[in-house]
Amino acid sequence: MSQVIRMGIVGAGNIFRAAHVKTLLEHPEVELVAVCDINPERAEAVAAEYGISSFYTDYRELLKRDDIDAVDICTSNLFHSEISIAALQAGKHVFCEKPDAVNPEEAQKMADAAKASGKVLMTMRNNRFNPSSQYLKRFIEEGHMGEMYTGRCGWLRRRGIPGKGGWFTTKELSGGGPLIDLGVHYIDLTMWLMGNPKPVSVSGATYTKFANNEIADSVHSSFGEKKADGTFDVEDLATGFIRFENGATLQIEFSWASNVGEEMTFIEIRGTKAGFSLKKGELQIFSESAGQLTNMAPVFKGTPPSAHGEHLKHFIDVVQKRAEPIILPEHGVDMIKILSAIYKSAETGREVIL
Ligand SMILES: NC(=O)c1ccc[n+]([C@@H]2O[C@H](COP(=O)([O-])OP(=O)(O)OC[C@H]3O[C@@H](n4cnc5c(N)ncnc54)[C@H](O)[C@@H]3O)[C@@H](O)[C@H]2O)c1
Repeated sequence: MSQVIRMGIVGAGNIFRAAHVKTLLEHPEVELVAVCDINPERAEAVAAEYGISSFYTDYRELLKRDDIDAVDICTSNLFHSEISIAALQAGKHVFCEKPDAVNPEEAQKMADAAKASGKVLMTMRNNRFNPSSQYLKRFIEEGHMGEMYTGRCGWLRRRGIPGKGGWFTTKELSGGGPLIDLGVHYIDLTMWLMGNPKPVSVSGATYTKFANNEIADSVHSSFGEKKADGTFDVEDLATGFIRFENGATLQIEFSWASNVGEEMTFIEIRGTKAGFSLKKGELQIFSESAGQLTNMAPVFKGTPPSAHGEHLKHFIDVVQKRAEPIILPEHGVDMIKILSAIYKSAETGREVIL
């Protein structure tokens, strides 16, 4: 019989309510025992709404409790590393929302703290848990793609800036705009499917052209608290090119706002035996057989479970030692190194060697 994992939540905003709380409340091996938010009304309201017995406004108070085994961190980006490190040092397992940290030094400190503590540190990579991603991983591992030598990925929004003026658009609190916010999802998924090749250099460019635009056409622009007279010192579009040690390459493009036809997520990987395109969740695989070119579209039946929920369940499986983690702290360090180097390349106009 597995032990019950007593969990504390730090940061009870949009993503915790939208994508974490249901899975955690329903999980038979999880008990939510405390919630912390710097906004006292929110901490109290969330505790009352979900029947969580204690609430705090300072995460250090929550971490002092010996009866808490794990924490789930859903704060704005800047605080992910500080709270993760403090939690690991207090002997807690840590699940943390993406991005891992706002710079590579902090991401490395998180990985080091996890190693020193012997506890699990996992950051959210929900897209790895979509049925199409799981299918592709298996398709690739069965050898159907051959050598994967190049790819493209991106998430383009037409008008979908989250929390305009608030923490999302304030570099100090977020680490950047769509590159760090959205890039972490799709660069991670593409690299994972490519077998986590080691990045060796990047080149990138960033633009801010829509800071004064008030139109919104994306559900994502309702995320995060807006601030009328707030800050907008991040990019709204980023492009880039990543080279890997094995010779493979990846082109990337992420926008919160740009003049495109419609919001679009996409990943393409080209292999010597097959290639695929995953556009807005629609998967097509391109290959050849019996002397003809073939297109294949796998059929996924039923309503898929929440990918965020599936990742949280994987975290619990790893804490309970019945699964090996598919997301490692080193993946986060590599990811934040890539993103930070793209920002540096955008600033200097030169390729950055990692
Ligand atoms: N995986 C995904 O699909 C996904 C989607 C949206 C957001 N996110 C990530 O989730 C995180 C939160 O985003 P959100 O949209 O919920 O933002 P939000 O602003 O709605 O919520 C953040 C909450 O954290 C609280 N907070 C901030 N600093 C804190 C601290 N030091 N201690 C305790 N509480 C603190 C805020 O008061 C707020 O309630 C971000 O890192 C974001 O990148 C992930």
